[in-house]
Amino acid sequence: MPYIAVKGTHDVLGKEAQAYRYITDVFKAVCELYGYGPIETPILEYTEVFDRATGESSDVVRKEMYTFKDKGDRSVTLRPEGTAGVMRSIVTNKLYVNDLPLKLYYAGPSFRYERPQQGRYRQFCQLGVEAVGVNDPHLDAEAICLAMTVLKMLGFENLKVKLNSLGDASSRAAYKDALRAYFAPRVESMCEDCKQRLLLNPMRILDCKVEADQEIAKGAPKMKDFLSEESEQRLYKTISLLNEMGVEYELDDTLVRGLDYYAEVVFEVHAISKEGKDYGALLGGGHYEGLLETFGGPKDIDYGVGFGMGLERIYSLMADNKMLDDVKSGVDIYAMPVGAEVVDDAFSLVEQIRALGYSVEMPFVPSKLGSMFKKAERSGAKFALIIGPEELARGMVNLKNLDSKEQKEVAIETLDETLDAEFEKLENPEHEHGEGCTCGHCHD
Ligand code: HAM
Repeated sequence: MPYIAVKGTHDVLGKEAQAYRYITDVFKAVCELYGYGPIETPILEYTEVFDRATGESSDVVRKEMYTFKDKGDRSVTLRPEGTAGVMRSIVTNKLYVNDLPLKLYYAGPSFRYERPQQGRYRQFCQLGVEAVGVNDPHLDAEAICLAMTVLKMLGFENLKVKLNSLGDASSRAAYKDALRAYFAPRVESMCEDCKQRLLLNPMRILDCKVEADQEIAKGAPKMKDFLSEESEQRLYKTISLLNEMGVEYELDDTLVRGLDYYAEVVFEVHAISKEGKDYGALLGGGHYEGLLETFGGPKDIDYGVGFGMGLERIYSLMADNKMLDDVKSGVDIYAMPVGAEVVDDAFSLVEQIRALGYSVEMPFVPSKLGSMFKKAERSGAKFALIIGPEELARGMVNLKNLDSKEQKEVAIETLDETLDAEFEKLENPEHEHGEGCTCGHCHD
C-alpha cells in the first residue's frame, strides 16, 4: 500500500500552509487586542476530561472520540475540542486565583471521528477563546465582537450571527420535559440516534441531520417559551449590546449546539455567499456553567464563555472567494551568485540582509542566470539580487524588481536604505518620497 495520509487528515502545503499561518496570526492579534492571552494544553488528555466536560449525550463523546489505552493501560483521548482541556488546566494550575475573568486563547489540532466531507475533517484546527470566572452578558457580547473582528479583518463581509438562549438549569429542565412529551409518541419512526437522544438529552434531537427527523422536530416546543425571566433578560441584554456594536444577528431557536456544557446564550457565525447560500458555521460557542466544578474547581466562579472556529473552513472559503491573493507567500528576495567564486561573499551578504528583517533565499551552487531567474519567480520573491564578480569588486550588486522587471545597480554600503525604500514603494505604490514625506525612509 502506498504511504498516504490517514483518512480525514491532510498535508497542509505551500500556499495553504502560508494562509493557515496568516489566518492564525490575525486571530491571535485580535485576541490580544481584546485582552486575551495564550494557553497551550496537551493534545492528549485522560478520557474522563472529555467524558465529564463535553457530556455523555453529545455525539462528540458518544461516537467521535479517538480514544485508546496507552502502554500503562490508561484510557487517553486525542482532544475533540479545546474547552475541556482548558478548564482542566485552569483547575490543575489554580489559574482562578488570578484576576477574573481569565481570558485565554488557543490554536491547535482537534480530532473527531466524523465522516470526512467538504469542511469536515478528522483532524482539524480550532482557533478558540475562553473567558472564565465572571457571569456577565458583556463578556458574551465581547466574545461575539471578537469573533466578528477576526472574520472582518480576514475580509469576510457577508456574515450571519445566529443566536439562541438555552436558558438556566430550571428553564432547560422544563424544556426537556416538554420535548420528551412531544417526541416520545413519535420516536419510533425516527433514527436510532434520536431514540438514544430521547433518553440521554432530548435537546440533542433538534440537532439531528436526518431530514425526516428534522421535519418532525419542526413541530416541537420552542425553548423561548420555557425561558425563565432572568434568562430572557440576559438574552435581551446580549442582544442590546450587539445592537449597540452594530453586529447583525438572527434569533434561531433550533440552535442547541452539540456539546452539553452550554447554558444561556449560544451562538454560531455563518458565512453567506452573494447568492444567499449558507456555507455553514465558521465558528460556534456560547456561555457555559459548571465546568470548573467538574474538575474539582470552585463553584462560585464557575461560568465562562467562548467559541471555537474551524481554520480549514475559513481557509477553504477564503481560497474559493479569492480572498488570499494578497497573503505573502515565499521570500522577499532571491539572491543569485553569478559564478562559484562569489558564493561565499553572497552567503555573508545574504546573512546581513536577513538581519535587516528581509527573508532571502539563495542557491549555493549557482546555475545559469536564466535558470536562476526561473527559480526566483517560483520562489515568490519580489526582488532578485544579482551578485556578479565584477560588480562585487566595485562594492555593487544589481537589484531587479521581478514584477516590473526594473533593474538597477546599487551600492552594498547603502543596500539597507535601498531595500527599505523599494519595499515601502511596493506596500504603498502611490507614495511619493521627498521633501515633506513622513515615511520611515525619508523621515527618521
Ligand atoms: P464546535 O461547534 O463543536 O464547538 O466546533 C467549533 C468549530 O470547529 C465549528 O464551528 C467548525 O468550524 C469547527 N469544526 C468542528 N468540527 C469540525 C470538523 N470535523 N472538521 C472541520 N472543522 C470542524 C466547540 O468545539 C466548542 N469547544 C467551542 C467553544 C469554545 N464553546 C465554548 N468555548
